[in-house]
Amino acid sequence: MKALVYHGPGKRALEEKPKPKIKNSTDAIIRITKTTICGTDLHIMKGDVPEVIEGLILGHEGVGVIEEVGQGVSNFKVGNKVLISCITSCGSCEACKKGMYSHCETGGWILGHMIDGTQAEYVRIPHADNSLHHVPDGVNEEAIVMLSDILPTGFECGVLKGQIKPGDTVAIVGAGPIGLATLLTAQFYSPAEIIMVDLDKNRLNIAESFGATKLVTGNAVEKILKLTDGKGVDVAIEAVGVSSTFDICQFIVAAGGHIANIGVHGKSVELHLEKLWSRNITITTRLVDTITTPMLLKTILSGKLKPEKLITHRFAIKEIMKAYDTFGNAAKQKALKIILTNK
Ligand SMILES: NC(=O)c1ccc[n+]([C@@H]2O[C@H](COP(=O)([O-])OP(=O)(O)OC[C@H]3O[C@@H](n4cnc5c(N)ncnc54)[C@H](O)[C@@H]3O)[C@@H](O)[C@H]2O)c1
Ligand SMILES: [Zn+2]
Ligand SMILES: [Zn+2]
Repeated sequence: MKALVYHGPGKRALEEKPKPKIKNSTDAIIRITKTTICGTDLHIMKGDVPEVIEGLILGHEGVGVIEEVGQGVSNFKVGNKVLISCITSCGSCEACKKGMYSHCETGGWILGHMIDGTQAEYVRIPHADNSLHHVPDGVNEEAIVMLSDILPTGFECGVLKGQIKPGDTVAIVGAGPIGLATLLTAQFYSPAEIIMVDLDKNRLNIAESFGATKLVTGNAVEKILKLTDGKGVDVAIEAVGVSSTFDICQFIVAAGGHIANIGVHGKSVELHLEKLWSRNITITTRLVDTITTPMLLKTILSGKLKPEKLITHRFAIKEIMKAYDTFGNAAKQKALKIILTNK
C-alpha cells in the first residue's frame, strides 16, 4: 500500500509499505477513505516531537471502512463505515475510567506518533471498540474527518477548559484549524465577543465569516486592552504553541479569567506571576481526550455545526507530498484543512 513515511526532520516520502495486519485481538484494520494533515504533523516534520522514529507512517485523523476485526472486537463489523479518533483508548484503565483517554495506559496519542498512522491506504487501530465511532449513512464524510482531532481539541482544550459562559468576552490567539474549531464550538455557549488574533489576514477574514466579532493582527495586547476598556478578556485561548502567543494570553486575561492553553509547546514559556499572582485567574492545559466526539457528531448530524467550512483543498492520497507542500505553505496557499481521498 502507499503511505507517507517520516524520515527524520524535514524528510518525508510517499512509499510502498506492507498492508497492516491484526496484532492483538482488540485491533481493527481500516481501509482509509479520507484523511488529512494536522498542524502537529508539521511540528513532527520540524523535529519538535523527537520521539517519532524514522520509518513511521504519519497521520492521526481519518474516516474509513472496516476491512478486518480481531476476535475481541464487538462493536464493529467488516464493512462498517467508521471515524478514527486521534486518541486510542482501552476504556478500562484508571485514566480511561476517569474520562482521560489521552493518558490511557496502553493508548493515548499513539497514531502517527508511536505507531503507524492514517496517512496511508490502510491503518491498524488498537482498542478498536473504544477508539472508533460509527459514521451514519448519508453524512458528509469530509465534515466527519474534522471530528478526529480538531473539533474535540478546540472544544475540550479551549472551550471547556476555558469555561466559556454566555456573555463572556473571549480571545482566541491563533486562527489555524484548531483556533477556528475553537471559534465554531465556543458559540455553543453564546459568548458576547469573540476576538480572533492572527498574523494572517486571510485566516482572520475566514474567522469573521465563522462568527468572530473582532479581528486583531499585530500589537495584540494593546489592541485587546483597548477593545475591552482596559479590563481584558474573560477567557484567553492559546492556539499556536509558541511563547509569544502564551504571553499575549497572560497580558490580556481579565481578573477572575481563564487562560486555556491548546498549543503544543516545544520550548519553555515565562510565567508572569509578578502580574498574575493577585488576578484570581486559572491557567489550564490539556491533551485532547476525544470524549466529546459523540456529542459533537450529533451537532454535525443536526446541522448545527458545519465543519466542512474548514476544508480548502482536496487531493488524492497519492498526491500527499504535494498536499504537505500546500499545507506547509498555508498562508500563501490560503490553506486550512486539506482532504486526501483514497479511491
Ligand atoms: N492540546 C492538544 O491536544 C492539541 C491537539 C491538536 C493540535 N494542537 C496544537 O494546537 C496548535 C494549533 O494547531 P493548528 O493546526 O491550528 O496550527 P497552525 O500552525 O495551522 O495555526 C497556527 C496559527 O497561529 C498563527 N500564528 C503564528 N504565530 C502567531 C503570533 N505570533 N501571533 C498570532 N498568531 C500567530 C499562524 O498564522 C496560524 O494561523 C498547534 O501547536 C498544534 O500542535 C494541540
Ligand atoms: Zn492533530
Ligand atoms: Zn485506557
